[in-house]
Amino acid sequence: MRYVSIIAAAVCALACSSFNIREREHLSMADRAFRTAEKQMGGQVEALGSHTEFPHSLRNGTLYCTQMTDWTEGFFPGCLWYLYEHTGRTVWKNTAAEWTGNLEPLKKFTGDHDIGFLTMSSFGNAYRLTHDRKYAEVLVEAANSLSGRYDGTVGCIKSWNYKKSWNGDEWFFPVVISNMANLELLYRASELTGDAGYAAIADRHALKTMECHIREDGSCYEVVDFDKTTGEALSKGSCQGFSDNSAWARGQAWAIYGFTMAYRESGKKEFLETAEKAASFWLGHPDLPKDGIPYWDFNAGRRGYVPDWQYDSLKYSTVPRDASAAAIAASAFMELSEYSSDPDRYFKAGEHILETLSSGEYLAGAGTNGGFLLKHSVGSMPEGEDVDVPLVYADYYYLEALTRYEKLK
Ligand code: GLY
Repeated sequence: MRYVSIIAAAVCALACSSFNIREREHLSMADRAFRTAEKQMGGQVEALGSHTEFPHSLRNGTLYCTQMTDWTEGFFPGCLWYLYEHTGRTVWKNTAAEWTGNLEPLKKFTGDHDIGFLTMSSFGNAYRLTHDRKYAEVLVEAANSLSGRYDGTVGCIKSWNYKKSWNGDEWFFPVVISNMANLELLYRASELTGDAGYAAIADRHALKTMECHIREDGSCYEVVDFDKTTGEALSKGSCQGFSDNSAWARGQAWAIYGFTMAYRESGKKEFLETAEKAASFWLGHPDLPKDGIPYWDFNAGRRGYVPDWQYDSLKYSTVPRDASAAAIAASAFMELSEYSSDPDRYFKAGEHILETLSSGEYLAGAGTNGGFLLKHSVGSMPEGEDVDVPLVYADYYYLEALTRYEKLK
């Protein structure tokens, strides 16, 4: 009898494990990632409870959260909306709605351009998936807050109020490349209200960015400072990159992402051409590693991009990869494949990044990585902040990219 039980248990264990193997084999890349996401983010929801501490990164091995003081708080609710979209489970819809609702005071935020990130990832996805007008109202109010930062002479939204750059230069009207992604809030407001004024601001901002931020080779400056009285560019450089003339990887990803989105919303051919030019710089770069995940700056560690005396003091001897830049680019490549005359080029580039990010090198095992999905991102290298750690926005754009990938397949 004892032997029968042992054999029965062994058969059961074997059946279960071969079922798990079979099940795993049949799961798509996106299904596997979303299963991990359910476990990871479910753990974060449980650990946090209160909905007022928003996961940001892992610092000293501990979950680091912010409370509506950063540009990133919308991304955690945004991940929860993608979980709802992929699984169709009501529990994720309710959880996402709770976390989103807590961000409503941000609709009046006028301190910088980040209100686009904050509200589109949370309320934008909420409205896209539920069509509940209460979310639309928040988006329109947020768009009013953002458009208040627009200046007609410059033809741009003022991204930051900082008066000084990191290296001490005086700034008057700084406009950053990630501001491109925030224009989606304005396009959405035009769609929701029928008022074309929001989209007109977005178009003008994108055109000026195309003229002033994008270099001849398709790479971009992170920050351009403008003269408010003439609208002329006063200086061009970087803040989070290796040097003023280098190509900061996440900035490059924002350029591809932002101009692809601006083309989708405006239909302007020049935005599609700019997105492809920026994408070609990325894909053709000799220092892009074969696995598709860029170093945090395409030129990091290269002499010639900073004066030699500065190069020696930077000591970037270890050049980390940036999974957040890769995830944003993957999502952008997926969308770009829908509009380009060479769809395969971008679909395959995005798929390649997603395959690498979904491997054990980047995708965390359940119960590890502080509940985040992706490892190896870089927040701000020059400040030494969040280097080679998980970041909530890497997870958000990874889930967005996988969602787009599944729809295109
Ligand atoms: N604030 C945008 C970025 O760091 O990419």
